[in-house]
Amino acid sequence: MNEFYQKDIISIKDFDKEKLEKIFTLTEKIMQLNPSERREICKGKTLGYLFYEPSTRTRLSFDSAMASIGGNSLGISNVASSSTQKGESLADTVRMISIYSDVLVLRHTLDGSSRFAAEVSDKPLINAGSGTEEHPTQAIQDLFTMKKEKKKIDGLKIGIVGDLKYGRTVYSLLHGLGNYDVDVRLISPESLRIRSDSTYEIKQKLDLTETTNIEEHLDELDVLYVTRIQKERFPDEEEYLKVKGSYVVGLDMLKRMKDDAIILHPLPRIDEISAEVDNTKNAKYFKQVEYGMHTRAALLGVTLNENGF
Ligand code: CP
Repeated sequence: MNEFYQKDIISIKDFDKEKLEKIFTLTEKIMQLNPSERREICKGKTLGYLFYEPSTRTRLSFDSAMASIGGNSLGISNVASSSTQKGESLADTVRMISIYSDVLVLRHTLDGSSRFAAEVSDKPLINAGSGTEEHPTQAIQDLFTMKKEKKKIDGLKIGIVGDLKYGRTVYSLLHGLGNYDVDVRLISPESLRIRSDSTYEIKQKLDLTETTNIEEHLDELDVLYVTRIQKERFPDEEEYLKVKGSYVVGLDMLKRMKDDAIILHPLPRIDEISAEVDNTKNAKYFKQVEYGMHTRAALLGVTLNENGF
């Protein structure tokens, strides 16, 4: 039986290098299939989604991925229009959607929400972002993008810049990178440094440098992973205003980077990458979105097929 069959995807920490590489190989395979072959993978299966926070890419990429492999999707993209407004609990809402679906995708404001939901769901549950804690399928997409665009992950010098305190994609990415031999530079304002409760575990696995100064690292980086300052997670708007616009990647910065360096971003972007960068060969953040659809199709395929695909 395929090891991913009927398994929840709650944390990137459950993926070692071997598992990640298997997903990357299956993603490559799925990208080679013609549309009719692809539609056989999850023919007749249903994905149920439940989003307690806004989303564009994650929800639509799961939706699109499921359609491309022959399945369909249903769910709640805005809990304000659901019976949660009448007081229905997360547990009961998850139970309802699991009755209608073969696999569930949950985004929630709280850390630990996906683990809790997986315990009450009869169907496998995929974490599509839980509080400031994790976004595992984004990390798989990010790692796949690095591998695809740089032809390797081991040996890369990777800068991660922006909101390292509240950005959940950063935590999942760092744990994922912990499976590889990489040199990571964490670049943020002092007040948005990576949370100390997470650094111990991550530092066991990764060679990390923390800095506020992006300039002194630019010429060494193979990958610059830019993140949005997460305004909605600041307890105090004054604190947000102090760090807003701390780093803006524009053509001036790009000129100081290696010719073949790539710029990634989990998106949405606000002002941290200038639009003038979008048309350069280095900008890979829209390609990253496209890869996200294929990595999610591969994950759904292995979760729902006993013998893989
Ligand atoms: N990267 C990401 O999670 O985007 P959305 O919030 O639009 O889903």
